[in-house]
Amino acid sequence: MATRTGSRTSNRSTSGSSRGSSSNRSAFSWGEGAGPIIAAALGGAAIGFAANYGRKALMQGMEATIGDWDEILTAEHDEALAIFDKMLATDQTQSFKRKMLFMKLCHALDKHAHAEEMVIYPALREDDDAADADHLEGEHGYIKTFIYELNEMGTDAPNWLEKVREFRKLVAEHAHMEEEQVFPNFKKDMTVEENAHLTALVNRDGFWMA
Ligand SMILES: [Fe+2]
Ligand SMILES: [Fe+2]
Repeated sequence: MATRTGSRTSNRSTSGSSRGSSSNRSAFSWGEGAGPIIAAALGGAAIGFAANYGRKALMQGMEATIGDWDEILTAEHDEALAIFDKMLATDQTQSFKRKMLFMKLCHALDKHAHAEEMVIYPALREDDDAADADHLEGEHGYIKTFIYELNEMGTDAPNWLEKVREFRKLVAEHAHMEEEQVFPNFKKDMTVEENAHLTALVNRDGFWMA
């Protein structure tokens, strides 16, 4: 059975039109021989999807072995702070390295903030701790402000290191409050099931953001 686009093309080719073949072709016509190309493209997309799915499973599978939700988030804090330290060890001539590290930091912070904002902070509010959740979420806004400012100034700016140092201080203080105060207070009254449920939610969120 001819496809819609295929029959449209063949009708025009027998109509005796004096216009050139390229003008005869609809913008939506794929033309002859396009089938294998489309199939290859779809095959490539499927392979790409499978590879990306596998990569996400690997990345999040590694995190899932870390332990409970609070341990996963603490490990992510450590990972982000380690990237900051690498950024602070660069000089003005290492523009490319700075860009790469900054991109890595942005991805790590984005994934981390997503899990907290979509899972942990809503669960905190449900547990009558809206004050801490709102305070921490407000700080996430200032973390995004630092990202905006660093993007605007460029990696070769003379005050880049100073800005990164200030940024690291905010993230370290924020992480400290979560790890030493908010997470332990929240976790201590949880049942085993609640703890496991929250861990599963953080892992699921992390999978999609990996
Ligand atoms: Fe946070
Ligand atoms: Fe955090």
